Amino acid sequence: MILVTGATGFIGQHLVKHLVDAQYPVCGLIRPSPRERAFAPGVRIHVVAGDVDDLPALRVALYQVTHVIHLAGVWEETERDTFEATNIQGTQNVIDAMKEVGTRRLITISSIGAHTHSAFPYMRIKAQVDDVVEASDLDYTMLESSAVYGPGDNWTETIDLALRRFPFFFPIPGDGRVRLQPLHVSDLARCILACIADNKTSRKTYAVGGPQHLTYDDMINTIMQVTHHTHRKRYLRPASAVRWSNFMRGFIGGQALYTNTQIDLLSIDRTTNLDAISFQFGFTPIRLAQALTYLG
Ligand SMILES: NC(=O)c1ccc[n+]([C@@H]2O[C@H](COP(=O)([O-])OP(=O)(O)OC[C@H]3O[C@@H](n4cnc5c(N)ncnc54)[C@H](OP(=O)(O)O)[C@@H]3O)[C@@H](O)[C@H]2O)c1
Repeated sequence: MILVTGATGFIGQHLVKHLVDAQYPVCGLIRPSPRERAFAPGVRIHVVAGDVDDLPALRVALYQVTHVIHLAGVWEETERDTFEATNIQGTQNVIDAMKEVGTRRLITISSIGAHTHSAFPYMRIKAQVDDVVEASDLDYTMLESSAVYGPGDNWTETIDLALRRFPFFFPIPGDGRVRLQPLHVSDLARCILACIADNKTSRKTYAVGGPQHLTYDDMINTIMQVTHHTHRKRYLRPASAVRWSNFMRGFIGGQALYTNTQIDLLSIDRTTNLDAISFQFGFTPIRLAQALTYLG
């Protein structure tokens, strides 16, 4: 049995489908919510209701589990979910419960650019979570990823929605020159499945990214071309981006175009070798323009 924490999240939902398609029995640790929780049609998994601060629920969720894919965490702090409690202590709780029940294999997703001395809170926290994992003495595999996109993300889909709702402008934080290596979520899921299948990936960290180094400007241009919105003008100043983002919230389903963490992350280059995945996992990830068919 594979336990996925954060199974209801963007990566979690895609990963669960890939695991089920590959015939793995899957359990999801899912925290109670008033929102409806649904997986893709035909995807059936065991569910244990619980938070990462709920050790009894973690113990139950780990019953007969051989591998844990730990994706639970928050991108923005709230009163209920602080970085310290959810991301750091939550990871420690998962590790403690795994040790208690004797589950050894743990797979986590870190971020390229995570550093304890980063200027940005999320990147400092990711680095601290990585330290907790590395100090765990478990058979962990860490995938350090560039930005991940795909159906259901809160990035390409929000940009697409904003482009459709706002015909004349489009805010971009910074100068648009930050370099990313966008990785399709299905390709990340393939890497995770490869780590599950190969114990030699244990106690290793792999940087992963898509097949292109693109500036944020390049990425927006690609989305504009794919969705036929190439006539848009752009604002490039951070302040206006934040202001417009807040203003636009109401027009794009209550969702901010850029969250605080996303604005921070658009200040850091997040790239690795272009052949990182083909070299380490033996397949070529899909290019952005070919993969955006879910937009529009
Ligand atoms: N997406 C990317 O571009 C990217 C890039 C590099 C690394 N990563 C890493 O990949 C992981 C998953 O990212 P994601 O984009 O899929 O995040 P996400 O969409 O925000 O999903 C987070 C998941 O964590 C769950 N969660 C939050 N707090 C919890 C708690 N206290 N107890 C139990 N579950 C909790 C959420 O449940 P609810 O549904 O109840 O909120 C949700 O299922 C994160 O560690 C992230 O840092 C992501």
